[in-house]
Amino acid sequence: MKLKIFLTIILLAAQAAIAAPKADKAAAMLELADQSRCMTCHDVDETIRGPAWRDVGKRYQGKPEVEEQLVQKVLDGGGGVWGAEYMSANKRAGIDNIRVLVRWILTLR
Ligand code: HEC
Repeated sequence: MKLKIFLTIILLAAQAAIAAPKADKAAAMLELADQSRCMTCHDVDETIRGPAWRDVGKRYQGKPEVEEQLVQKVLDGGGGVWGAEYMSANKRAGIDNIRVLVRWILTLR
């Protein structure tokens, strides 16, 4: 019985150790996205004006070559892929921040 409790604690600690960096990363990315004003149109899980970022990650799964193209599109604005809505340009966010965000979005599933 004591062994079972011990093993449960080890398991929970291991899970927390694995989950924590991921959660930290997500929190940092959401903060950057918020500062970059992406969140007025986007959410990780829900489609607002723009597609849910999890859907974007799934759509381009296994296609890392689209990264730079998406960075340019977010910077300049564009449409025609997800529906009738158009993404306005995001120059003020800066290309480096946009690249960091797109790279993270492409890891979402
Ligand atoms: C004014 C609303 C708006 C803002 C602000 C906005 N987006 Fe978008 N975003 C959209 C819309 C609408 C689409 C879908 C465009 C399409 O159908 O091609 C989109 C699509 C995308 C896509 C997928 C593009 C594709 O071709 O599949 C990514 C990635 C993205 N946005 C990231 C961002 C990031 C990062 C920011 C912040 C720097 C941001 N967006 C800010 C509205 C917005």
